[in-house]
Amino acid sequence: MNFWQKLPKPFFILAPMDDVTDVVFRQVVARVAAPDVLFTEFVATDGLQSAGREHTLQRLEIEPNLSRPLVAQIWGANPDNYYTSAKEIAAMGFAGIDINFGCPERGIVARGCCGGMIGRYKEAAAIIEATKRGAGQLPVSVKTRIGLSEVITEEWASFLLEQGISALIIHARTVREMSRVPARWDEIAKVVALRDKLAPGTLIIGNGDVADRAEGLQRVAETGVDGIMIGRGIFHDIFAFSDEPSPTTPSHRLGILLDHVQLYETTGNSKPFHILKKFFKIYVSGWRGASDLRAQLMDTSTPDQVRTIIATAEVPEAMLPVS
Ligand SMILES: Cc1cc2nc3c(=O)[nH]c(=O)nc-3n(C[C@H](O)[C@H](O)[C@H](O)COP(=O)(O)O)c2cc1C
Repeated sequence: MNFWQKLPKPFFILAPMDDVTDVVFRQVVARVAAPDVLFTEFVATDGLQSAGREHTLQRLEIEPNLSRPLVAQIWGANPDNYYTSAKEIAAMGFAGIDINFGCPERGIVARGCCGGMIGRYKEAAAIIEATKRGAGQLPVSVKTRIGLSEVITEEWASFLLEQGISALIIHARTVREMSRVPARWDEIAKVVALRDKLAPGTLIIGNGDVADRAEGLQRVAETGVDGIMIGRGIFHDIFAFSDEPSPTTPSHRLGILLDHVQLYETTGNSKPFHILKKFFKIYVSGWRGASDLRAQLMDTSTPDQVRTIIATAEVPEAMLPVS
């Protein structure tokens, strides 16, 4: 049995997000309200198999206190690089490997990678086969969208379901739509029906615009998916994965921010400090004076400066009521 088969149903996953779900932020989310599964940021197989691989390898750093299955997500164009990368990843301690067939970034799609692989059946089959061969015992999943410019859910999902993958994650928009239109959950329901017919053993995970666990449970009831993946919801609610209301106060939230900064500092191969700034709004919002405090924090350039500002900040005892 691989980890996918052992998960409670429905299960919840923190979506892979470049420059967000790194080894530091994953630890913060796992401490605050843990999802059932975590994913790395996407990792370039071509980069991993190049002379400058040290930089790419940083994306595969595993947290020391890992309490949930962690899936390494990979992308690229060359099946040989998928094979070698999957083999290496299988020896590192990950629970699974996910193939990114969904990223809409223009340059990447133009090279036929990620979202640019949608509809390229021969190439996609070769990549999945090479990854599975390299992964050995590790389960392989695919995360994708419902088309490149046109919606081709049925053709594309049927093809993927025939490749013997453990899980299929559907972000219910086309590549061209980026994130500009609401996710089409009715398309995800179609994939569940296809799965029942073609590949009963493959788990279906729905993704797109889910704010939190409560909304995810509604989507499960509507579509019959096995699991829900939440991405941007975590920016609005650090407790998005909590199964009960999470009482919080401004000082509690600043405490989480200090934890985040501490983890950033103690993680050996951290990213540049400015990457931290995109997280400030997650913690510093929801009380009178929060935006002023945030503006001060945005002017910092070291962890110590953040700590000094927080140490002297005066915050109210309670959050503003949610309107
Ligand atoms: C900043 C950012 C970075 C992302 N990076 C990745 C990535 O590395 N791999 C991936 O499969 N999807 C990536 N995505 C897409 C998300 O995983 C997810 O599919 C998308 O945000 C829709 O889910 P949501 O509405 O819950 O956010 C990224 C999204 C955002 C906002």
